[in-house]
Amino acid sequence: MKTVDKPSKASDTKIAGKQELKDKPQTASFAAERQEIIKKFPVKANLEDYEKAYATFSWDEAKKEISYFAGGKLNAAYNAVDRHMNDGRRNKVALYSVDSNNNISKFTFQDIYLLSNRMGNALKSLGVQKGDRVFVFLPRIPELYVSTIAIAKIGAVAGPLFSAFGPDALRDRLADSQAKVIITTPDLKAKLDEIRSELPDLEHVIVVGANTGKLGKQELSYEALMASASDQLKPAAMDAEDPLYLLYTSGTTGKPKGVVHVHNDILGHHMTTKWVLDLKDDDIYWCTADPGWVTGTVYGIFGPWSNGASVVTYEGRFDADSWYNVLDELQVTVWYTAPTALRMLMKAGDDVVFRHSLKTVRHICSVGEPLNPEVVRWGMKVYGLPIHDNWWQTETGMQLISNLPCMPVKPGSMGKPLPGVVAAVVDDNGDELEPGQLGRLVVKPGWPSELRHIWRNEEKHKEYYRIPGWYFSGDNAWTDEDGYFWFVGRADDVINTAGHRVGPFEVESALVEHPSVAEAGVIGKPDKERGEIIKAFIVLSNNVKSSDSLIEEIKDFTKRKLAAHAYPREIEIRDSLPKTRSGKIMRRLLKAWELGLPTGDTSSLEED
Ligand code: PRX
Repeated sequence: MKTVDKPSKASDTKIAGKQELKDKPQTASFAAERQEIIKKFPVKANLEDYEKAYATFSWDEAKKEISYFAGGKLNAAYNAVDRHMNDGRRNKVALYSVDSNNNISKFTFQDIYLLSNRMGNALKSLGVQKGDRVFVFLPRIPELYVSTIAIAKIGAVAGPLFSAFGPDALRDRLADSQAKVIITTPDLKAKLDEIRSELPDLEHVIVVGANTGKLGKQELSYEALMASASDQLKPAAMDAEDPLYLLYTSGTTGKPKGVVHVHNDILGHHMTTKWVLDLKDDDIYWCTADPGWVTGTVYGIFGPWSNGASVVTYEGRFDADSWYNVLDELQVTVWYTAPTALRMLMKAGDDVVFRHSLKTVRHICSVGEPLNPEVVRWGMKVYGLPIHDNWWQTETGMQLISNLPCMPVKPGSMGKPLPGVVAAVVDDNGDELEPGQLGRLVVKPGWPSELRHIWRNEEKHKEYYRIPGWYFSGDNAWTDEDGYFWFVGRADDVINTAGHRVGPFEVESALVEHPSVAEAGVIGKPDKERGEIIKAFIVLSNNVKSSDSLIEEIKDFTKRKLAAHAYPREIEIRDSLPKTRSGKIMRRLLKAWELGLPTGDTSSLEED
C-alpha cells in the first residue's frame, strides 16, 4: 500500500505567509494549463457507474468495509484510527495541522492512536463512563481531533462545540445535555466561566495549554492528564445503536435541539466519503468546515479517517491568500468547502488565484447552502474544475444528495440521491410530485446515519416524520427530468447565514435580554455573499430613545451572548411588531415587509 509520509514540496515547519507569495503573472491560459495538468491525474472515480450502483447497492453488503467486533459490536473511533495500525497505514500522516502562525505539525495514524488512547484513559480515570456527555470546545488544533476520537473510543458521547459560541449558546447546550466534562483552552474557558454556576452536572473542565498555577476548582491540565495516562486502551465495543455524538442545531422554534447520532453512522460516513469526496490513498484532503459543525465532525474526522486519508486542518481565519497557500503548500488534492467561502474567493478575484499554483487540487466539493451557478462557472474558469455541490443536514448525519464525480455537474443543482438513499419531492400528504413541481424535500427513513433521537425531546424527534412514510428535511425543492434535485428554500423560518444554521428564536431571546429591547422579531434577509444575513425588527422599551450607538450596542450584546455569526447585522426599530392573536410574532410578515412582497392574509393580526 502506498503511504504518504509528507508532502514532498511542503516546508517541514511553516507555510508561506502573504509576503512570501511567489509572483506568478496572471495568465489567461491558466485554466487551460490546469486542464492539461488535471488530465494527468489518476481520476478514475471510486464510484464509476451511478445507475448500476443505485440499482444494486445495499447497506448490508457495504458493512464489509467496516470493522466489527464479535457479536456485531463496533466502534466508530476504532474504524477511524485503530484499524490503521494493521492495514499498512500506521506511519501514514493522518493529520497535517496548520496553526494560526502557519506552523505545520504532522501526526501519523499511530500518533493519533496513542494520543487518543491516553486521553481515553485520562477520561476514564475521571470517572467518565459509556453514555456520558463530554464536550469539545476547542479551536481547530490537534487536541480537538485527539479528544473527539478518545471520547468515542471509550463509548462516551462527543459533543462538538463551535469555538465562536458565546456564554448563552454554551449554557443552552451544556445544560440540556447534562454534560459531565468539557475540554477547552484558557481563552475559551473565560466564556464558560460566566455560566459555570448554572451547570450543576459539569464535573470537570480539562484545559489545553493551561498555566497550571491558574487552574481553579474542578479544572485539570490536559497535558498533565496525558502525561500520567497509559497509551494502551481497548476500545469500547458498542452496539450499533449506541450514541456516538450529540450535536445541537437550530430549529424554527425553541432552543437548539440535540441531534443524537450513533456508532452505526460510521457506515454512512465511510461510504459517502468514498463516493462523494472520492478519497484515494494518496489524497491529501482539506475540509474547511470547523468540527464544531456537522461537516467538520463527519467529513473532517470520521469519514476521511475511516478511509485512511491524510486530513489537513487550518486553525487560521479565512482569507484568500492564506487559503490558497494551504492548498499549495500542503499539496491538497481534494477540497471540501462551502458556498460563502467560494463566493468570498470569487470576490477576492482571479489574480490571487493565478498567483498560486493549485496544481495538485483535483476534486472540489461544496455544502451547506445554495451554490450559485455563477460560482460553479467561475470555478471552471479559474480552477479548471467543476465544484460538486451536495446536500445533507445535521440530522441526516451524512451526504444524501450529490453531484458525483462520475456524473455531469448541473450548476445550481444539488445532484442526485446517493446509492442506498431514496429522496423525493412530495406534497404535504407524502405523495410524490412530478418533475418541475415545487414541494417538500423528503427522504425514505433507514439510511445508516439518520438521527436517532432529539436529546430528551421525543416530541421534536417525531416532528421530522410528520409526512407519512418520509423523513421531512424542512427544505423545499423540485426535481428535473434527469432526477437532479434543485433547492428552493427552507419551508420554515430557519436562517442560513454563511452556511451557519441559526434559529430566529435564539436571536430573539438574546435580543430581548437587552434592557432597551421590549420585543424582537428576526428573519433571514437575502445577501449576495452570505446567502442570508440576520435582520432584527425590534421595539424599544418605554422611554428608550433610538440612536446609532444603541443599535451598535445591541448588536454587540447579541454577538457576545450567542456567537459572532449569530447576531443581527441589521436592526430596524418599529413602534410595534405584527402578531397572531395568540401573541406569536409573524416572521412571515416581517419577511414580506423586508422583501416588498404582498403580505397576504393578515386577518389574524393583532395590529398591522
Ligand atoms: O437548508 C439546507 C441547507 O442547510 C441545511 C442544513 O444545515 P445544517 O444542519 O447546518 O447542515 C449543513 C451541512 C450539512 C439544509 O436543510 N443546505 C445544506 N446543503 C445545501 C443546503 N442548501 C442548498 N444547497 C445545499 N447543497
